[in-house]
Amino acid sequence: MSKFDQRGNPVSYGHQAAIDALDQAMDRLHAYQADPLAAVDQILVEHPDFAMAHAFRAGMLATATDKAFESELIRSLQAALALAPKANDRERMHIFATRAWLAGDWDQAVELWGRASIAWPRDLLALQLAHVGDFFLGHSHMLRDRVARVLPHWNAGVPGHGFVQGMYAFGLEESGDYEQAEARGRAAVAVNRQDGWAVHAVAHVMEMQGRAAEGATYLAEGVDGWAPNSLLAYHLWWHKALFHLDADDAPAALQMFDEKIVASGFVQALELVDGSSLLWRLSLLGHDAGDRWDSVSEKWQTRVDDAYYAFNDVHAMMAFVGTGNGAAQQRQIASAKRAAAGTGAVAMMSREIGVPGCEGFAAFGRGDYAQAIDWLLPLRGKANRFGGSHAQRDVISWTLTEAAIRLGDSALAEAFVAERLSWKPRSPVNLDWAVRAARLKPAPAP
Ligand SMILES: [Fe+2]
Repeated sequence: MSKFDQRGNPVSYGHQAAIDALDQAMDRLHAYQADPLAAVDQILVEHPDFAMAHAFRAGMLATATDKAFESELIRSLQAALALAPKANDRERMHIFATRAWLAGDWDQAVELWGRASIAWPRDLLALQLAHVGDFFLGHSHMLRDRVARVLPHWNAGVPGHGFVQGMYAFGLEESGDYEQAEARGRAAVAVNRQDGWAVHAVAHVMEMQGRAAEGATYLAEGVDGWAPNSLLAYHLWWHKALFHLDADDAPAALQMFDEKIVASGFVQALELVDGSSLLWRLSLLGHDAGDRWDSVSEKWQTRVDDAYYAFNDVHAMMAFVGTGNGAAQQRQIASAKRAAAGTGAVAMMSREIGVPGCEGFAAFGRGDYAQAIDWLLPLRGKANRFGGSHAQRDVISWTLTEAAIRLGDSALAEAFVAERLSWKPRSPVNLDWAVRAARLKPAPAP
């Protein structure tokens, strides 16, 4: 007889206590609270034939976008595939989605998780993995619309309703509907102050609207809710550092790096991305990152041949430029080119964004600003193809603006300044670029 999880989704496994325990483990992932992996491992000790538990573990590890987790991912996936004949249709969709992800076909993986969330609209794990997949694929509107599809099946009485609101908030934000995004995000946080993704959605609204001081205060005020045991804390600290930077307070941003972001230990590629991104922005603004690049670059070097995800590769390149490591830069470009030769979404990302992105950042590091612009300018309109958020991808615009100014290209600098000021007219960073760009203009004829 079929059993059900806490949201009424069918589960093929016969032990209700194990299903309930898996619900608890999944809730940790939904809130990005430590440690869903430890929780599911504990379940699997006693229940090694629990297909959905293996599928959960595999899906979670896959969407970490980090080759460091690949051997564990394969172990879970193999266990899940062996149990697939006895699993139900929903569980098989989870298993096959993760198999597609591992094969580099992220589009197919997201489709399968997405189809599962349509067929079982209260399958919160399917929704979340598809949502995260949409994020890594840069499908901004699907971050919103995929969640909208299931909203009629949710209400405040269904466990996890707040997590759906938080995901919807982030999708609304990435789609530019800031007012509704903020309202939904704040509502989710009001229900659960530990809901890191909902806090994150509100922070993104403030980032996109240039509400730097307010954003830093918002994160500081909620820190006792979102920070303890949060798997997303490093990223929320990164957002706080961005707010400080945008409020012209580089020392506070550096402090965030030294006290909070480093504390992650840069165990995951996702943490390294934020480390690179912050130091790069600080360096662009002329602040000395000192030896901070070393720890980031060292960890990236262990992944230089992975070419696992183009977004990671471009951020690794920033660290190799930051440390002046020419050999690592060349290896990173070579590895991105190898990845680009493959098939599927991962190869497409390397081909279209990863390779030119790595080349462009390397050129910037050599002081070859004209070539950096040639590589990076065409990416401005399509960088969403390698995923991430608008706020993360803004590092490309930062780099182009600085390159144009350093090159002395008045027209290009002026164009970028106009673009940046159109959405953040009071940002001290943008205003400083405006002053420097204006100085490039030739003096009017007497
Ligand atoms: Fe973010």
